[in-house]
Amino acid sequence: MKIAITGKGGVGKTTLTSLLAYAYAERGFTVLAIDADPSPCLGGALGFPEELIRGLTPIAEMEELIYERTGAQPGTIGGYFKLNPRVDDIPDRFSAVHRGVRLLELGAVKMGGSGCICPESTILRTLVTHILLRRNEVVLLDMYAGVEHLGRATADAVDALLIVVEPTARSLGTAEQIKALAGDLKLTRLYLFGSMVNSADDRGFIRDHSPGLPVLGFLPVDPGVRQADRTGTPVFDAAPALAQAARDLASALDREMKPA
Ligand SMILES: Nc1ncnc2c1ncn2[C@@H]1O[C@H](COP(=O)(O)OP(=O)(O)O)[C@@H](O)[C@H]1O
Ligand SMILES: [Mg+2]
Repeated sequence: MKIAITGKGGVGKTTLTSLLAYAYAERGFTVLAIDADPSPCLGGALGFPEELIRGLTPIAEMEELIYERTGAQPGTIGGYFKLNPRVDDIPDRFSAVHRGVRLLELGAVKMGGSGCICPESTILRTLVTHILLRRNEVVLLDMYAGVEHLGRATADAVDALLIVVEPTARSLGTAEQIKALAGDLKLTRLYLFGSMVNSADDRGFIRDHSPGLPVLGFLPVDPGVRQADRTGTPVFDAAPALAQAARDLASALDREMKPA
């Protein structure tokens, strides 16, 4: 099962990804959680011990590895480098495992804008493609507002693209833009998931303003999220209602994946 999580900044993507990771781990799956946010914080939501998080270097910052694998020359811009570097050993070597969840941080590509082809972005794109096409565990990809790191080659491998939305017009507007980008990549199986939902009114707002996508569930606002942050524990432990919502989401995804 390969699930990509996207949506506007601050809507609760990382929180949801951490919950879903432990919901699948609890079912006995090995889980690979990928933090694709340029400023990683999935490890915190997962309640990874401080020393494990400190020991992780985001892949985009591993200059030596990037030069070794792509053959790019340090300090040069442009120039020749391999477009299909070896990446198969990276997920296991440069990740950390806690309570059945493996965490890999991609980090930020510093040079160039979106669509730039540089050694860093090449490594990340090749790595994500490898993980989606070749690895057999539950993969959760905690992304930025968009579908960066995904491409046409991976569209079939993504079982579900979850667009997380708050009950606000802006986050639903972002969802509509993401839907268009996903369509360009021929990604199918797009779903909305409501976050920071307080009331029936909030749920109704999301359903009424969905850009034509099914809503797979809702996460209420829960004081346990802040508690988890302050105590360095997994949100999954500190907020039982949210943990249950994540188990329900995993079941809903199962139903969606069953061939009709
Ligand atoms: N269900 C929730 N209840 C309470 N606070 C939440 C909830 N979901 C997220 N938050 C808080 O909102 C902020 C943004 O959440 P985060 O998961 O980091 O969003 P994103 O990854 O989309 O930027 C964080 O401070 C987080 O602790
Ligand atoms: Mg995030």
